[in-house]
Amino acid sequence: MENDLRAFWMPFTANRQFKKNPRMFVAADGMYYQTSDGRQVLDGTAGMWCCNAGHNRPKITEAIGKQAKELDYAPAFQMGHSKVFELANRLVELAPEGIDHAFFTNSGSESVDTALKIAIAYHRANGEGQRTRLIGRERGYHGVNFGGISVGGIVNNRRFFGSLLNGVDHLPDTHIPEKNAFTRGQPEFGVERADALEKIIALHGADTVAAVIVEPMAGSTGVLMPPKGYLERLREITRKHGILLIFDEVITGFGRLGSNFAAQHFGVTPDLMTTAKGLTNGVIPMGAVLCSAKIHDVFMTGPEHLIELFHGYTYSGNPIASAAGLATLETYQDEGLFENAANLSSYWEDAMHSLRGLPHVIDIRNMGLIGAVELEPMADEPTKRAFQAFLDAYDQGLLIRTTGDIIALSPPLMINKQQIDELFETLSSVLKGLQ
Ligand SMILES: Cc1ncc(COP(=O)(O)O)c(C=O)c1O
Repeated sequence: MENDLRAFWMPFTANRQFKKNPRMFVAADGMYYQTSDGRQVLDGTAGMWCCNAGHNRPKITEAIGKQAKELDYAPAFQMGHSKVFELANRLVELAPEGIDHAFFTNSGSESVDTALKIAIAYHRANGEGQRTRLIGRERGYHGVNFGGISVGGIVNNRRFFGSLLNGVDHLPDTHIPEKNAFTRGQPEFGVERADALEKIIALHGADTVAAVIVEPMAGSTGVLMPPKGYLERLREITRKHGILLIFDEVITGFGRLGSNFAAQHFGVTPDLMTTAKGLTNGVIPMGAVLCSAKIHDVFMTGPEHLIELFHGYTYSGNPIASAAGLATLETYQDEGLFENAANLSSYWEDAMHSLRGLPHVIDIRNMGLIGAVELEPMADEPTKRAFQAFLDAYDQGLLIRTTGDIIALSPPLMINKQQIDELFETLSSVLKGLQ
């Protein structure tokens, strides 16, 4: 490598391992990355669950260039520009009925912390300032800011970073492999895990709880599906107690399950939704919190010259990100990509489950265009086997993601049957070669 690799401290990366043997991309187009050693690598993960339309999409790249020349930046506070208003309108059109407003951020982590703050401030504005507790879930991933890691439930993301937010509790996770292993789609068992919410609420007192936040389908912890009836039960319990329900749709938004959002896929509408990633096809950082009019309108009182919510970012609704967002949503629509995901989901499901019986495979899960293959961990060396699968797959021309000993797959929604076959042929060869 001509580059000196020392200065860059890489995020969520085994830095020393990487720098000894770097894996570099130099280009991307459609479903493929190109490596610095001139190989094509099939993108089995839509970048990091974000390039839902695939790579180098003309509408998006053109929109970014055009916007940069026309209006590169506009102050986000007390000033506006037309594209961000247009994008907010498009987003609430895509969202379930009853979700009417969008607040822009620059990432999933920022969307999560924004949603938690809005939830707490909403109750205060509504005369219930004592409702400050937040309830997340074990194995939940809500980004890496302090709010997100506090409600999140991935131990390594929490334990190095002090005492976190106080007043947070956690639901049990919904992973029940002894009953649900190799389920296609939503598992039968586990709805009762939602009832734990009643106990947590009873312990703290309902009138102290502001919000419950969950991923409708937990992605980063290894693709855990909600058991049948589970999300409905959470909705019922939160509504009964006047607690806001937040769906973290950073991965599940924008067609991943074949619907606009997971909320529509499962037929459960939360009070707030967090988004990012697929909003701009991952090309420019942007996130958004979507919320109901019920929440928004509580803030719209008092003298009109006063700021209603003391929150926002320098780059909230940045013009270039907004242009990228609009072009992304247009690309999804023009090419029918969410429909493609829905149409291919049963082909994908069969391909996923064709891996059953290969060495070390102890569970397979799938839904829409997402899936996970769980491997038996090596004795005394957890995560090593899946990491080896990641390295071998890369060498054989396939990008996968791993978390613990779980391989996660989430290809761009433009994938076709032939590319699905290619993906699973490579993965099956990788699995067969593992120690
Ligand atoms: C459900 C969920 N929430 C939040 C985030 C954080 O997003 P970001 O990395 O853009 O901050 C992620 C990222 O994977 C996610 O999966």
